[in-house]
Amino acid sequence: MADLTGKRLLLIIGGGIAAYKVLELIRRLKERGVSVRVVMTAAAQHFITPLSVGALTNERVFTDLFDLNDEREIGHIRLSRQADLVVVAPATADLMAKMASGFCNDLASTALMATDKPVLIAPAMNPKMWDHPATRRNVKQLTADGIALIGPEAGEMAESGEAGIGRMAEPMAILAAIEEQLAPAEQPLKGRRAIVTSGPTHEPIDPVRYIANRSSGKQGQAIAAALAAAGADVTLVTGPVALPAPDGVTTIPVETAEEMLFHVEAALPVDIAVMAAAVADWRVAEAADKKLKKTGKTPPKLALAPNPDILATVAGHGNRPELVIGFAAETNDLVKNAKAKLAAKGCDWIIANDVSAKSGVAGGVMGSDSNRVHLVTAAGAGGDDAWPLLSKTEVAARLVARIADHFGDARPRRRDEAEAHPS
Ligand SMILES: Cc1cc2nc3c(=O)[nH]c(=O)nc-3n(C[C@H](O)[C@H](O)[C@H](O)COP(=O)(O)O)c2cc1C
Repeated sequence: MADLTGKRLLLIIGGGIAAYKVLELIRRLKERGVSVRVVMTAAAQHFITPLSVGALTNERVFTDLFDLNDEREIGHIRLSRQADLVVVAPATADLMAKMASGFCNDLASTALMATDKPVLIAPAMNPKMWDHPATRRNVKQLTADGIALIGPEAGEMAESGEAGIGRMAEPMAILAAIEEQLAPAEQPLKGRRAIVTSGPTHEPIDPVRYIANRSSGKQGQAIAAALAAAGADVTLVTGPVALPAPDGVTTIPVETAEEMLFHVEAALPVDIAVMAAAVADWRVAEAADKKLKKTGKTPPKLALAPNPDILATVAGHGNRPELVIGFAAETNDLVKNAKAKLAAKGCDWIIANDVSAKSGVAGGVMGSDSNRVHLVTAAGAGGDDAWPLLSKTEVAARLVARIADHFGDARPRRRDEAEAHPS
């Protein structure tokens, strides 16, 4: 159980029959040492009284946007910001509609608009109201706005006896969702350093033309973001992509394979290397420094030269990361080819992805938001694994969970140790 002592919650109680359950929630929060401030809507006060809420929270209860005393002493803006989390329970259809549309004509909706803190809502309403197209739209909008939902659940309604989805989540389930929001997520890779490569490379033919491939960089970026979320200190070396740089990651944009290798080697030593970039195998041996002119009918002949093998270089490096993971995009004999690549490159794991038309990914893996991969490990017995069709974010989360398992409870190496004793 996470320690919630001293955490501050702003609880907004809406006018639904489930308001009575919120008294139990407040008790549980107080037991966990959470300080709870409450705003009640006018409708909520028909169901439970500010007196009982105030008696449980041991704080004054806020009900009126235009209360002179409240506004002078704390004000709706401070009220909405002096909290680590804002919870709406029960979140009525009306409150959800206001939130989705940005209305603020009472204290509850104004505080919700003014807050800069995460918001969690526990919807509760009649199943017909929950199924109504307006509520469906509002749920979609609220989710897109980054608002977290707990429930509603299926069951019988308190007032009408109707069955369906709409019952507010039980107080203990809401408490668990609050705990998830308030307690910082576990960071199993804290203290670890990682390098991720991502995207295509562009190999110039002349100043305006280049050789490239269809890699979008989505999978590599998702892995970089997931490693950072797990606490790793991540450097992302990315070829040209149309994606914003992920938060919390040091991003180094490059064009060519040679630039990519330079920045990868400069980032060593690290604990984890995930080489997800689709590096061009060849470059034009001598790129023209002026635009090639279309003269006559004979096209220019392009002599190609091999690019450096970044994965093999990292896997064979004097400062080799403890865990080197490569990617293999295959159209046939997925696992066989991935195993051969793993041996040839000297890396520890290969994520083989099926880029063939039969991968099950509509329109093909490259550029898509989904991926179907097979994890092949050097030991083989280390848990070779065919993963189902997943979003690239889910593939990243699974991979990072496997990386975290690999490092287990081992003490993270400090950077100076890593430099003194390269693996
Ligand atoms: C007995 C009764 C029970 C109600 N229960 C709910 C409910 O569970 N969910 C809901 O969205 N609205 C419910 N309503 C309707 C709301 O109280 C009404 O939409 C109100 O305007 C909501 O105000 P608020 O969102 O400002 O709290 C109920 C109304 C009554 C009279």
